[in-house]
Amino acid sequence: NKIVLAYSGGLDTSVAVKWLQDKYDAEVVAFAADVGQNEDLEPVKEKALETGAIKAYVEDLKEEFLTDYAFKGLKAGAKYEAKYPLATAYSRPLIAKKMIEVAKQEGADAVAHGCTGKGNDQVRFDVSFQALAPGIEIVAPLREWEFGSRQEQIDYADKEGISVGATKESPYSIDRNLWGISIECGVLEDPAEEPPADVYQITTDPEEAPDEPEYVEVTFEQGEPVALNGTEYGPVELVDKLNGIAGKHGVGRVDMVENRLVGIKSREIYEAPAATVLLTAHRHLEDLVLDRETAHYKKVIAEKYAELTYYGQWFSPLKDALDAFVESTQKYVSGTIKLKLYKGNATVVGRESDESLYQENLATYEKSDTFNHDAAVGFIELFGLPLKVDSTIHKE
Ligand code: ARG
Ligand code: SIN
Repeated sequence: NKIVLAYSGGLDTSVAVKWLQDKYDAEVVAFAADVGQNEDLEPVKEKALETGAIKAYVEDLKEEFLTDYAFKGLKAGAKYEAKYPLATAYSRPLIAKKMIEVAKQEGADAVAHGCTGKGNDQVRFDVSFQALAPGIEIVAPLREWEFGSRQEQIDYADKEGISVGATKESPYSIDRNLWGISIECGVLEDPAEEPPADVYQITTDPEEAPDEPEYVEVTFEQGEPVALNGTEYGPVELVDKLNGIAGKHGVGRVDMVENRLVGIKSREIYEAPAATVLLTAHRHLEDLVLDRETAHYKKVIAEKYAELTYYGQWFSPLKDALDAFVESTQKYVSGTIKLKLYKGNATVVGRESDESLYQENLATYEKSDTFNHDAAVGFIELFGLPLKVDSTIHKE
């Protein structure tokens, strides 16, 4: 028996290493992914081996995470329930895919993760595993084990010689990557309570943000961000820099009650400074370069895209089909958007594109106007005709 375990170095997955060895009489291969959680993973690898894993993989997935996951959602304009930029949701299918690769390489017959039985993440992992390796055995220790409380788990860890870690544990459950941070638990479980200041990890409180606004220009090529303030960057550097700039101005905080796939509502805090700026800028660039019908229809797609992502259906035929649609709309989404960052807001103040469909001579109210006003009369007559007929027939 060999199991590939998604390993973070925290208490849950460390206990899981030992527990899987005990209960399943299995060798455990630990897998840790760098998706930009801003943590040195070398010590995590060491800890996995100390805890009893026979092998530990650490993979830098930052660029792939952005280009093949988050940027696809960016091009689609996806936000779950119109608010959540889906940072955690994009990372799960990617990590699952890499774990399946490792499982094949290692000849493992099972994969495991440290998600609870109440969340979305278990669904995203398990559905991705099934889609990529039908029939592989899936173990979720947190859904199965017998620990009734955190303390019982810590006692088990002590007994098994697993270092629980001297650092005081956060009162929150936090998942972080380059696209954003998800924060839940603790006092946040009461949706009536304002989040205490210590909830926020990467954004300045807007009230304490700089009193001077800061401008930032984002350049896109075919829907993907390629430059900031005229300087070209690779995806990882660009998003990292933008998180810093926008985070400093308190941009990208979300406080919401959302509908989990498993039927419960949960109160979630998100911080996604770069994602918020990029999603806003991208939408405004599309306003300039997309024809009206494509732009309107794309909003319908965006909502479905966000749902599929949230629901763990990343590796699905419909998601592939939506990607093809989105990709075909991005051909001319190239240009530069200027935003003003100020005390929690990212406001678009300027836009420019060689592909712009904006025609000043058509839009202007000045003398240079070339719009055919006579044509408007006939157009309106036919456009209003159905209403005229309806009103005549159904009068009173
Ligand atoms: N509710 C969010 C989502 O479904 C956040 C999940 C956070 N996950 C975690 N392991 N803390 O994507
Ligand atoms: C979990 O319950 O494992 C984290 C939260 C979620 O998946 O929604």
